Amino acid sequence: MSDTPHSPVSNDSDVLIIGGGAAGLSLALKVADQARVTILSKSSLDQGSTYYAQGGIAAVLDEHDSHDSHVEDTLAAGDGLCDREIVEYTVSRGRECIEWLVEQGVKFTREQEDNAGKDYHLSKEGGHSHRRVVHAADATGKAVFKSLAAQVMEHPNITFRINTVAVDLITTEKLGTSDNRCVGAYVLNEISGQVSVHRARFVILATGGASKTYLYTSNPDGASGDGIAMAWRAGCRIANMEFNQFHPTCLYHPEAKSFLITEALRGEGGLLRLPDGARFMNEYDKRGELAPRDIVARAIDSEMKRLGCNFVYLDITHKPDSFILEHFPMIHKRCLEYGIDITREKIPVVPAAHYSCGGVMVDKHGKTDVENVYAIGETSFTGLHGANRMASNSLLECFVFAFAAAEDILEKLDNVILHDNIPPWDESQVTDSDEDVVIAHNWDEVRRFMWDYVGIVRTNKRLQRAQNRIELLQQEIKWYYSKYRVSRNLLELRNLALVAELIIQSALNRKESRGLHFTLDYPDKLPSPKNTILVPDNFHGGSF
Ligand code: FAD
Ligand code: SIN
Repeated sequence: MSDTPHSPVSNDSDVLIIGGGAAGLSLALKVADQARVTILSKSSLDQGSTYYAQGGIAAVLDEHDSHDSHVEDTLAAGDGLCDREIVEYTVSRGRECIEWLVEQGVKFTREQEDNAGKDYHLSKEGGHSHRRVVHAADATGKAVFKSLAAQVMEHPNITFRINTVAVDLITTEKLGTSDNRCVGAYVLNEISGQVSVHRARFVILATGGASKTYLYTSNPDGASGDGIAMAWRAGCRIANMEFNQFHPTCLYHPEAKSFLITEALRGEGGLLRLPDGARFMNEYDKRGELAPRDIVARAIDSEMKRLGCNFVYLDITHKPDSFILEHFPMIHKRCLEYGIDITREKIPVVPAAHYSCGGVMVDKHGKTDVENVYAIGETSFTGLHGANRMASNSLLECFVFAFAAAEDILEKLDNVILHDNIPPWDESQVTDSDEDVVIAHNWDEVRRFMWDYVGIVRTNKRLQRAQNRIELLQQEIKWYYSKYRVSRNLLELRNLALVAELIIQSALNRKESRGLHFTLDYPDKLPSPKNTILVPDNFHGGSF
């Protein structure tokens, strides 16, 4: 698909949104009646994690459930590091988000499919003490994405540009002034190879997470942490990067690129088993298969290491075929393609990198440390997830903070003007690369040592090894970046390596085990939990 037909030729917008997932699309729709919006996305529309989300969106809709319960569950999963005020705020907007999505055309699963008047079917996932996950069978993300994208395509004030990769934010500091405002972004056209200036009054980082930093991940290829890296280079603080979440159950199959098996399958009775068929989760946590993700992923990792096996099994065969087909049609179909009939056979599963709990520090409106830059969705750090995100709280966060940022931007729209005299991208010192193999090799190397040394179980020695490696690679990448024309692969590698460095540094800074960060050198929790905040050299001070 190319640009939307009503694309203006100019690269100027009121609001430039980098990223067309749940967060970016929602913000666009919220501001577009009053502002000219451009959304940028890599390659194709399905590049973000949103498209692949399975389980659903957490929201309190059941009369027996309560906001207090959702808040307490989120705080417990976050292992002492969530910001209670942000958790309460987010949870309180859950119903509003679901109602808005329904208005945009999303068809969530109801108790009886043929009865539109019936309540939504609510599923349960790890850490939730109630059924509160609203979903569209086991392909919630696709349903949400398609409805929002359809609305975006029809809106006359929104231009959606695919095949575009934002390279860096343009800030007044880089243009030589003493303050630090953002005035636009440099953007690579993946087809032509040209980099152009996109001017904007507000720039939104909605670029998703950074789980591609790891060798095995549930995320699509574009999850290289671009927004986090761009924000850091522009002068924003980055927080809690050590808390990269590993989803316990991705399909183990040589041809399946870490295909996720939703936690909702465990919520509906799916059991984890060792190769000999024995269950093991109750030995790790009284909540068994529905303990929070950090606990389940660590338990699987520990059993795999103890037994020297490559995977464990997830078993739903005890449920009736009709139940499995009704609740998990997409997973059933995909597993069949790999020769596994989940109604009859146990599913081989392994943990894989899934979600970045840390990210660009923002306030309650998604505002970052750099004026006119907002960060929303997985790329941001709002304080909601603490040391471990509870299942299905991520999409909720995307909507809540997209709404909050939109409200703030609309209030300020008339006070910010487009900046003149932005210099074009300078290519005078670079040539075409004749050694693309270096990029491919370095991509692989970063992801492999991050998996081996900065994974589910860490030690000081492993982290230091990773730090030595990343320093060398960073030098090589910087040299390469200064010599050769940029490409998507090079830009992603540059971002991935920077994000890896931030993750390693954050992990080294945390002298305890908490939530997703587990180190054999400091197995206990410290008495007073603290966020890990990294401050860039060009930080100009923050208002929160
Ligand atoms: P994304 O949806 O990841 O979108 C990022 C966008 O940014 C893409 O359009 C991408 O092309 C663009 N982009 C990135 N870098 C650049 C750049 N440099 N220039 C231009 N564009 C760029 N969460 C839940 O709450 N419930 C679930 O059931 C659930 N299931 C999941 C299942 C899977 C398999 C995965 C991977 C994640 C799941 N998550 C779930 C997490 C959740 O889907 C994500 O956190 C969320 O969708 C992130 O949305 P986003 O808008 O922040 O970013
Ligand atoms: C899943 O469906 O298991 C993923 C849910 C999430 O990441 O929140």
